[in-house]
Amino acid sequence: MRTVVITGGTRGIGGALASRLAGDNVIAIGSADADLSSIRETRALAERLPAKIDVLVLAAGRFDQRRVVTAEGFEQTFALYVLSRYLLAERLRPALERAETPIILNLSGTGGIKAGRIHWNDLQLESGYRMFEATMQGARANDLLGVGFAAHGGPIRYVLYNPLFVNSGMHRQLRQPARAITGAAAALFAESTDKAAGRLVTLLAQPPTAPLTALRRGRPVRLDRPEFYPAAARRLYTLLADLTAGPTSTPRQ
Ligand SMILES: NC(=O)c1ccc[n+]([C@@H]2O[C@H](COP(=O)([O-])OP(=O)(O)OC[C@H]3O[C@@H](n4cnc5c(N)ncnc54)[C@H](OP(=O)(O)O)[C@@H]3O)[C@@H](O)[C@H]2O)c1
Repeated sequence: MRTVVITGGTRGIGGALASRLAGDNVIAIGSADADLSSIRETRALAERLPAKIDVLVLAAGRFDQRRVVTAEGFEQTFALYVLSRYLLAERLRPALERAETPIILNLSGTGGIKAGRIHWNDLQLESGYRMFEATMQGARANDLLGVGFAAHGGPIRYVLYNPLFVNSGMHRQLRQPARAITGAAAALFAESTDKAAGRLVTLLAQPPTAPLTALRRGRPVRLDRPEFYPAAARRLYTLLADLTAGPTSTPRQ
């Protein structure tokens, strides 16, 4: 029986995936289990997870129309979407390496999308925060997390997966009128969480064999695109290692 850890496993795509993996030992993490926008709580979660993990699914996410700063001093989107995913993957590396065919499945906005960039001199978006920019910075950073993780070698396969538009209810976090517009668009055009989760079950049954794979709803994305430049991944990894190094990390740029 596989041990599958799913952050964001209480709702949306992660929740639908958790309920479809009945034959596995699924550990579904929601914000009541650990606030993953906190480095301290992310570290504590990693400590209490099993010593052997077959699959780590990174699916926790939240939209913030206003710039929210965590108690540890980080912009919340960056903390949840980037810092915690970096930290969990690295902290759980030994547990994953004990599994036969370990996989990290990172649900993100990968996929040759030109939108979004890393604001290297303003990672916390202190000047001019916008939700879209914060989310897309997170998507670009997650592309680099995959590259940075895979660069260390080892048996763990890292899969960046963009589910595209899924009617997960994420729009409920938005204020009006964005909430009504996004909700209506999701009802009309988005895939159901059940269908999206079904694709992931199939993927996890026969995962890619390469150290790093990027997929847009199952379609491969070329890794020689600029979003995946190794030098940028090294730069981000160095920054994240620095930001998460201390006992009570504070943003330094
Ligand atoms: N939906 C889409 O169209 C779409 C498209 C592209 C990429 N994605 C990516 O796919 C992933 C899942 O999206 P979704 O639409 O399924 O999301 P969702 O329905 O909004 O679910 C979000 C999940 O994240 C958890 N979460 C939120 N804040 C947290 C925190 N501070 N600490 C721990 N857990 C937290 C929630 O837990 P609680 O319920 O317990 O708070 C919930 O389980 C996200 O990473 C998103 O970026 C989604």
